[in-house]
Amino acid sequence: VEINSLRKALLDWYDGHQREMPWRTPCGSKAQTSSVLPPSEKEAAQRAYEVWVSEVMLQQTQVATVIPYYKRWLQNWPTIHDLAKAHPEDVNKVWSGLGYYSRARRLHEGSQLVVRKFEGILPRDAKSLEKEVPGIGPYTAGAIASIAYNLPAPLVDGNVVRVLSRLRAVAGDPKGKDVISLHWSLAKDILDPDRPGHFNQALMDLGATVCTPQTPDCVACPIKEFCRANAEQRAQILLAKQKF
Ligand code: ADE
Repeated sequence: VEINSLRKALLDWYDGHQREMPWRTPCGSKAQTSSVLPPSEKEAAQRAYEVWVSEVMLQQTQVATVIPYYKRWLQNWPTIHDLAKAHPEDVNKVWSGLGYYSRARRLHEGSQLVVRKFEGILPRDAKSLEKEVPGIGPYTAGAIASIAYNLPAPLVDGNVVRVLSRLRAVAGDPKGKDVISLHWSLAKDILDPDRPGHFNQALMDLGATVCTPQTPDCVACPIKEFCRANAEQRAQILLAKQKF
């Protein structure tokens, strides 16, 4: 019961407060897929490519910086088939300025594998994504499965770790193996089964805009009544100890 209220509170907040990003479904479109027609397999595969590109860019780079790069990337290579045919020098050129060039190379080589092996359609579930596509790790696999394919796959990044640590008052080193694996299990349990992609993005947006590292805006938080750190006035304390 409580978990359902939490999911609803976070998703209602997301519907009103989500940050606009070019790779997201339009603001205000509530249902992730089902409001009008479910996306065709082709549309979902295109979304998967777009989510893949955006998530790889977002791994070490802020949203505001990524947006123009993302748009330029998709102008150059609108589909995964276009990317697969690209010249490595062009890929590097369009990536230039984002840093960590191995990310661009992995995307490029990954696109060639997906075209060769899967006719350009990224696998749907997180496990296959991780297993089949070199360079796709657990986070990116969860993002593609949930955001593009609407499958109930959890994901954990720095923002999610911070939000969940406070929500459940998780102590310990947030970079430690045990704590990270606990967070994957928390993220799986809390995930909304109907709108997993929106739910995951809501957690990340909450971490980026409300449940921030230094001074979380608990008053504005849609899930404060479920939050142990808030109940115990511990957000600051947890933070000070853990240096998120
Ligand atoms: N950070 C990385 N990917 C994100 C996404 N899809 N939404 C919000 N924050 C993110």
